Amino acid sequence: MIRTILARLMVALVVSVTMLPLALPLAAQEVDRPETEGSPTGGAPTLEDILARQRGETVDDSDRRANIGDPDSAASIADQLGTLGGASDPDLWRSIRFNEEPNMSVSAGGDVAKVLVQDGGMAWYNFRAGPLREYGGWLLIGTIAVLALFFLIRGRIRIDGGKSGRTVTRFQFIERMAHWTLAGSFILLGLTGLLTLFGRVAIAPYLGLDANAWLLHISKLIHNNVSWAFMVSLVVVFVMWVAHNIPNKTDLVWIKQAGGIIGKNHPPAKKFNFGQKIIFWSVIVLGVSVSVSGLSLLFPFELPLFAKTFGILNDTGLPQWAGYGPLPTALAPQEEMQFAQLWHAIVAFVMMAIILAHIYIGTVGMEGAFDAMGSGEVDEEWAHQHHAIWLEEVKESEASAPKGGTTTPAE
Ligand code: HEM
Repeated sequence: MIRTILARLMVALVVSVTMLPLALPLAAQEVDRPETEGSPTGGAPTLEDILARQRGETVDDSDRRANIGDPDSAASIADQLGTLGGASDPDLWRSIRFNEEPNMSVSAGGDVAKVLVQDGGMAWYNFRAGPLREYGGWLLIGTIAVLALFFLIRGRIRIDGGKSGRTVTRFQFIERMAHWTLAGSFILLGLTGLLTLFGRVAIAPYLGLDANAWLLHISKLIHNNVSWAFMVSLVVVFVMWVAHNIPNKTDLVWIKQAGGIIGKNHPPAKKFNFGQKIIFWSVIVLGVSVSVSGLSLLFPFELPLFAKTFGILNDTGLPQWAGYGPLPTALAPQEEMQFAQLWHAIVAFVMMAIILAHIYIGTVGMEGAFDAMGSGEVDEEWAHQHHAIWLEEVKESEASAPKGGTTTPAE
């Protein structure tokens, strides 16, 4: 009996003596660990940190960033505790999180796979769920409200003295086809884009998550495929109408008379007046921007746009001048996608607001305007009041056309 107890005590003594060298560095390490803000949580972010980050605030993580162990030092390797040497698991994850892990390399999957942890996603998520929805939504509601108010004050712009009963060709079939392909695709893209952005807050609480998921799925299919029709018709519209949209001196008269929108004047105009030129160039410039950022989203990580653009902007000194410092030029592939998504949505919102005004003036806002894109034939009196110079040009070319020839195309 005594022999057994002694034998057990011996074993216990031997085991504790052999384990002591291993236990010492562990104790030393705990004492050595610097007092950090995250100490109460053992180095992990505190609840306040997490909540602040979710609110989109900048959290001072310098203590954690610096506290990533030292797996490389000779001492830590000599005092090896396990496979990680002097570093612990949390140290390792922190160093991956802050992109400071020297011993970790990803050999497959390209640049995207090299980013193992990316915390910019939180800022993106917050912006998308917050200001993007809020300001974007209010922009559209505000535009509709302003147009409704304008309609109440100004009423429908009528044809002074009524229609003449004679018509003139304003847009050829090909022009109307291109316009309606552009318009139809834009409306589908706008609606499906809005469903994607607002579904979670505007559909899910009322129709349920399943209905929202189904709508999202359908929206994505429509959005991704209809985008091609938009891009092609944008190019066609540009080629067809660019020559008529170069600013000229008749625009000065139009600007002076505020387009005749306020008051009863009808400033003379060629095929497109200055207001329409603004619509045209907005559609082209914003349409190209929304298309390029859309392509970047359609082919993830293949078309990074923002690091280069930010670099060019920094070179102009404008961001620094505006107080936004130099913009970041070392973006992770995921951050490129986040910027592309936000830019795509912001440009789309601005375009939707402009197009709402365009749809207003092309339908309820002005008598006789819709015919131009409907049948292609407009009343001569309408043409005289809104595009007097163009009407003269059409009449002149009709008069000089050989008798029995076809109607002169609208110029
Ligand atoms: C229901 C929707 C729409 C209606 C009723 C409509 C109506 C019209 C009309 C009547 C015109 C000819 C104006 C004239 O004779 O001078 C026109 C022109 C034009 N439309 Fe639309 N449109 C719609 C949607 C769109 C969309 C979505 C876009 C682009 C994304 C667009 C782009 C243009 C452009 C660039 C012009 C030539 C410039 C101008 O007249 O302002 N339209 N539209």
